Amino acid sequence: MKYTVLSLFPDIVDAFMQSSIMAKAIERGFVAYQAVNIRNFAFDKHKTCDDAPYGGGAGMLMLPEPLGCALESVGVRNRFETRRLSGKMGGTEAADSACPVDTRCPPKKKVIYLTPSGKSFTQALAKEFATEQEELVLLCGRYEGIDQRIIDAYVDEEVSVGDYVLSSGEVAALAVIDATYRLIERVISPLSLEEESFGNGLLEYPQWTRPEKYGTLTVPDILLSGHHENIRRFRLRKRVEKTLSFRPDLIRKGLEEHLFDAETCKIIDAIAETITDI
Ligand code: ADE
Repeated sequence: MKYTVLSLFPDIVDAFMQSSIMAKAIERGFVAYQAVNIRNFAFDKHKTCDDAPYGGGAGMLMLPEPLGCALESVGVRNRFETRRLSGKMGGTEAADSACPVDTRCPPKKKVIYLTPSGKSFTQALAKEFATEQEELVLLCGRYEGIDQRIIDAYVDEEVSVGDYVLSSGEVAALAVIDATYRLIERVISPLSLEEESFGNGLLEYPQWTRPEKYGTLTVPDILLSGHHENIRRFRLRKRVEKTLSFRPDLIRKGLEEHLFDAETCKIIDAIAETITDI
């Protein structure tokens, strides 16, 4: 997977991508990465990238021209233009006229704009990006957002990483990178992916490690028994209990979409009899 991140603060992204885990993924060839500083595409000597919104309102918006040029510089085309913008884009007339009419991204390259008003980024969406795309172009907003024409002309998906507002899109872009790269084939074993949270529509079971006694707290006896079938059942019950408690919406969705096997449904029924709120 190639990640191309367009940002006013590429240092934030660089620091993460150069950290040991990501550096290893890059070294092993699973991940490629490019950070592009949007400010390099500003037109004036002050490198201005923002202005007030038409119609009034709080805050500033990112200007369309630097964003459009940054996107074009990484091979993303404007769906409303059949020819490249010349002059400031550095394109020649001959190159401009050679540009094909259908200028959208090829199917395996997706432009994602990170915004709190986007669709929710879930494990399912992470899996979709990881398996169906070869390149994610992650556009990080700052200030109150970006000019709508950039979204209309270049963006394939608007994505939110949660119902809260971050000061910019970089941290959200890192969440998308982190959640997707580990789903790329061979990065993490399929078994650990199945058992972790959201695998099979349930949260992960709680876990314990050495020592057996931590102050007055002990490890559940069943985990020390060596009885694999009982341990498996214990863990499944814990997953159901935890999901019912923290994320009853996931249980409702799993039941509606028939995600759970008979054993899981039986545990849900048994616990549900003791509570009313699912
Ligand atoms: N930018 C600011 N807040 C965000 C959020 N919750 N998700 C994605 N991008 C954002």
